Amino acid sequence: MKNTGKIFVLKNGCEILVREIRKEDRLLFLTGFKSLSSESLYHRFNSSSFRLTDKYLDYFTVVDSNSHCALGALDLSKENQPGIAVGRFIRLQQEPDYAELAITVLDEYQRLGIGTILFLELCRVAQSKNIQFFTFSIHAKRRGLFQFLMQKGAVFKSRMGPQIELSFPLSEVGVTRKR
Ligand SMILES: CC(C)(COP(=O)(O)OP(=O)(O)OC[C@H]1O[C@@H](n2cnc3c(N)ncnc32)[C@H](O)[C@@H]1OP(=O)(O)O)[C@@H](O)C(=O)NCCC(=O)NCCS
Repeated sequence: MKNTGKIFVLKNGCEILVREIRKEDRLLFLTGFKSLSSESLYHRFNSSSFRLTDKYLDYFTVVDSNSHCALGALDLSKENQPGIAVGRFIRLQQEPDYAELAITVLDEYQRLGIGTILFLELCRVAQSKNIQFFTFSIHAKRRGLFQFLMQKGAVFKSRMGPQIELSFPLSEVGVTRKR
């Protein structure tokens, strides 16, 4: 993805810009984080009391692009172009073919296709870094999302308490290059 990003049209007709996250994005990130519901916070961080410390803000916004990729989405239909979603993957040191995936879309923007857009863009970037699989976890009670992911080619890996661990072969979305 170019540094300037790409524009996408959502199911409601609004345009968003998806681009790499930069270290200057701390305020955008913090503002978006503050408007997340406790439910979304719980699903993203496994805790609804997760605190975004300065250290975490650095971690989320100062990105080492070889092992860590972070994309943000901005709402172009609003004058102040707020940050509305973030997707990232981090390569696993022990298993470099795998990267852990996490996507967060602000509550009022969910079900408009942003999660899917970020997922596909992250797949493309991961492919260029020879990553073969994404791994991620979701809460077992999220049946609708689970079914959607399984239909798209996710594979069940394990279950730890209420969390289901899934892996997603990038070949399933037709982006994996042969080595
Ligand atoms: C999970 C999440 C990223 C999905 O983002 P999104 O932008 O809403 O996803 P999409 O609009 O692309 O939805 C794709 C499909 O997933 C399924 N889906 C997504 N959210 C769902 C929900 N709450 N209930 C049932 N199905 C759901 C649907 O099949 C949906 O397609 P549809 O809307 O055409 O029916 C978003 O809900 C979120 O940020 N949640 C909080 C954080 C989180 O759980 N992150 C994932 C773990 S890191």
